Amino acid sequence: MVGPEYARSVRRALLALVLLTAACQTASQPPAPAVAVAPGERVTFNNQVVRVFQQHCQTCHHPGEHAFSLVTYVDARPRRDDIVDVVRSRYMPPWKAVPGHGEFTGVRRLSEAEIELIARWVSEGAPEGDAKDLPAPKTFPSGWTMGTPGAVLAMEEPFTVPPRTRDVYRCFSVPIRLSGEGRFIRASEVLPGNRKIVHHVLTFLDLTGRSVELDQAEPGPGYTCFGGPGFDSAGGLGGWAPGYPGIQVPPGVAWGIPPRARLVIQVHYNNPGDTAETDVTRVGLHFTAGPFERRLTSALASAWNFAIPAGNSRASVLARTSLREDVEAIAVHAHMHLLGREMTVTARLPDGRTEPLLKIDDWDFDWQILYYFKRPVPLPAGTVIEAACVYDNSATNLRNPSKPPRAVTSGFETTDEMCQARVLGTARLKGP
Ligand code: HEC
Repeated sequence: MVGPEYARSVRRALLALVLLTAACQTASQPPAPAVAVAPGERVTFNNQVVRVFQQHCQTCHHPGEHAFSLVTYVDARPRRDDIVDVVRSRYMPPWKAVPGHGEFTGVRRLSEAEIELIARWVSEGAPEGDAKDLPAPKTFPSGWTMGTPGAVLAMEEPFTVPPRTRDVYRCFSVPIRLSGEGRFIRASEVLPGNRKIVHHVLTFLDLTGRSVELDQAEPGPGYTCFGGPGFDSAGGLGGWAPGYPGIQVPPGVAWGIPPRARLVIQVHYNNPGDTAETDVTRVGLHFTAGPFERRLTSALASAWNFAIPAGNSRASVLARTSLREDVEAIAVHAHMHLLGREMTVTARLPDGRTEPLLKIDDWDFDWQILYYFKRPVPLPAGTVIEAACVYDNSATNLRNPSKPPRAVTSGFETTDEMCQARVLGTARLKGP
């Protein structure tokens, strides 16, 4: 476990690296300022900068969230230098998908004009401006954002994280008891119980019963788990990271939970505070009754039995899977551990065409979000989904958990690696 100061210094050093790379890229984005500045006008917080923050930052940076608030001038001014660093490096807002590889909804990227606006505000002394220019404040829901769920699956016991404890990865195995019908869901939302300590959440379905054994083998609620839940999972019910909503499938799509499945809720906790904190994270399900024309499918390209030599700063691993039916892809998710640096997910169609699905060139374990395609991507039967993973197992990789580096193999532990891409899609329901 590393201390907060160390984690922060690593983050700062990593930031400096990205800053360098960002500086080498050309500014090719069309200038489309969301917030206009008239010639000769001063850039102020109240008139322009707060509007950028409202649109691109405050979803995660408001009181009650674990990231500090960027709602008022008093919140923002002391952070101004950090703010310029993180927007220039594109560390913030967190969005890992490289433009041009897959077209997604909910893209969180500042335009060059917005970045320059913030930089100019800071370089001109970060003035507050006139109170009459302030836009109406935004409001943020603190509970369920998709309405009241039809059923809630919750951790069975509260879990307590001691003070000043970072990077606790814990899996909780929860029985799924759903009455009568309504086993088809249209949406699923993860709600962290204690936002002061919940860093991110992933969920997994367990058809093997293994999660119960793992839980019983360890004292306290749940069991330690890092990369995966410790068994081959049959999909999941979504995840949570600050600012990301739940999973929703298109109308007419049957999304069923297999009978006898258990839900495993994996939570990454950080408690920087001086008091112990307790959490009960929940998953809310919204049901639908059909009629259904399609069903939800999931294709997993996963590499196993690989090894990454110690010291290698660009080790590649390829994972592949092929589709046995026609699928319309709706979302894609990438998974590696701490040595991961890049992942490129490509669909190789049977007719020889290739379809770029996702490219991440600055992997961050903490931001494993589901990227939703703007339009369903048709992938005929026989398509090969390929995930090309690149790892940095050198001593210069500040995220390397082993010092000095050691040979790393595939596995679920913090010091193991994984190379997985999951494509979520829909397929036609077989006729009677
Ligand atoms: C999707 C959620 C999200 C959005 C949107 C977002 N942030 Fe953040 N930001 C975070 C989280 C979470 C952290 C804390 C990182 C951690 O603890 O790992 C953070 C950290 C930061 C930091 C501190 C970085 C450091 O460690 O030194 C700054 C500065 C920052 N954000 C500025 C911004 C600005 C400016 C925007 C908008 C342009 C923005 N953020 C948008 C979630 C977000």
